[in-house]
Amino acid sequence: MESKSRSLVLLLLLFSCVLLAAQETSKPAAGASTFKSKCVLCHAADGSGNTPLGKQLQAADLRSKDVQKLSDAEMRKIVHDGQANMPPFADQLSNEEIAGVVKYLRVLARSKK
Ligand code: HEC
Repeated sequence: MESKSRSLVLLLLLFSCVLLAAQETSKPAAGASTFKSKCVLCHAADGSGNTPLGKQLQAADLRSKDVQKLSDAEMRKIVHDGQANMPPFADQLSNEEIAGVVKYLRVLARSKK
């Protein structure tokens, strides 16, 4: 009996760890879908900017050092307010969605081969 309840506790602990881990990753995942719906037109799925419109507007390679050296706050501001040919997203995305998509840009940069 004693050991049964102990393994139940362990199981519960394990389960909450899995839930926590899932929560931890939910932001980049939401960021990924925001990116796919709002940004790939100009920035391409891999962030390279390698699309007809991206080339025409000279969209930056989001994985490049020049872009990645920006702080999260600077990136959020660019997405919120726009910059040069980059349109503002203030009226399309919530601050939370912008924060999520910026997180996703870090993931994209890490996955560059
Ligand atoms: C209509 C095309 C277009 C769309 C859509 C677009 N961008 Fe951009 N983006 C650009 C262009 C063009 C630039 C280069 C701006 C410049 O020269 O300063 C840019 C630059 C950036 C930069 C880097 C700016 C810098 O200083 O180097 C970030 C970060 C960025 N975009 C994020 C995003 C995110 C996130 C989205 C989706 C929410 C998005 N962009 C959607 C065109 C676009």
